[in-house]
Amino acid sequence: MSSSYSSSLTLFFFFASTFLYTSSNSFNITNILNQNNEFSTFNNLLSQTGLASTINSRQTITVLALSNDAMTMFSSQSTEDNKKSLGLHIVLDYYDIKKLRSIKSVILTTLFQASGQAKGLQGFVNATVMNNGDIMFGSAVRGSGLDSKLIDSVATHPYNISVLHISSYISIMDPEGPKDHGSSSSPLPVQPPGDDDYEYDEPPSPPSSTTKPFVAAATAATAKPPSSAKDNSTTSGVSAISIPSLAFVSVISSFWFFMTVW
Ligand SMILES: *[C@@H]1O[C@H](CO)[C@@H](O)[C@H](O)[C@H]1NC(C)=O
Ligand SMILES: *[C@@H]1O[C@H](CO)[C@@H](O)[C@H](O)[C@H]1NC(C)=O
Ligand SMILES: *[C@@H]1O[C@H](CO)[C@@H](O)[C@H](O)[C@H]1NC(C)=O
Repeated sequence: MSSSYSSSLTLFFFFASTFLYTSSNSFNITNILNQNNEFSTFNNLLSQTGLASTINSRQTITVLALSNDAMTMFSSQSTEDNKKSLGLHIVLDYYDIKKLRSIKSVILTTLFQASGQAKGLQGFVNATVMNNGDIMFGSAVRGSGLDSKLIDSVATHPYNISVLHISSYISIMDPEGPKDHGSSSSPLPVQPPGDDDYEYDEPPSPPSSTTKPFVAAATAATAKPPSSAKDNSTTSGVSAISIPSLAFVSVISSFWFFMTVW
């Protein structure tokens, strides 16, 4: 009785970790950017600064990629400053061209903001569809221009990762803005650091609304296996599968399947 219970637990955690593994490793920014030599400098710096693995660990992300000719500024900066600059090019939500066109103008939260090192609106990027149809990007700090232009989409895995090629890097601006000295006490909503799921002007999209229960269930599940697996060796556990435990496992795994696919 107790051995079939723990064998079903073992199987359950096997399935659970398989789903966790596949959902957290389903894209690899290094491989995506490797498809095109144009992005080799940007790609190398993402790996060098450790940002590549941060990107891969996220489920909904947009990378504003720069081609090699737009990367000259980075060669004169320290790795630490490069990490901040690159962090401003990593948006903590999924935006493809279609979504940006439909929103018209949006303030995007970046990884630099989530790092807690940004001041004022430094860690936010403004993306706006201009009257001529161009999509332009710039720092959200007031008075900064929108100088970087969307060139094209490099890759999309809908609702998880979008890689957009932009024409020039987005500078980290003085948080006070170029002229407007009163802006530090501005009433603009500045989110608490670390709360990177915050969005300004749109309701959460269906895919991201499933993220939280999924992660919560996964955390609860992974918290237990060491102790339950200890009192029964995994090899004997698998040979002792009973029909009720198989049923239990298939119910649980279809639940997981439903949660990950839906
Ligand atoms: C995409 O993201 C959702 C959560 O937003 C996640 O449940 C799903 O597993 C992810 N899919 C891929 C292919 O990464
Ligand atoms: C992503 O791909 C690179 C290059 O192929 C590899 O070195 C790295 O380990 C991969 N990362 C993950 C998380 O799979
Ligand atoms: C983005 O910047 C433009 C130009 O400065 C401004 O008109 C627009 O309101 C900004 N968008 C948002 C969402 O604040």
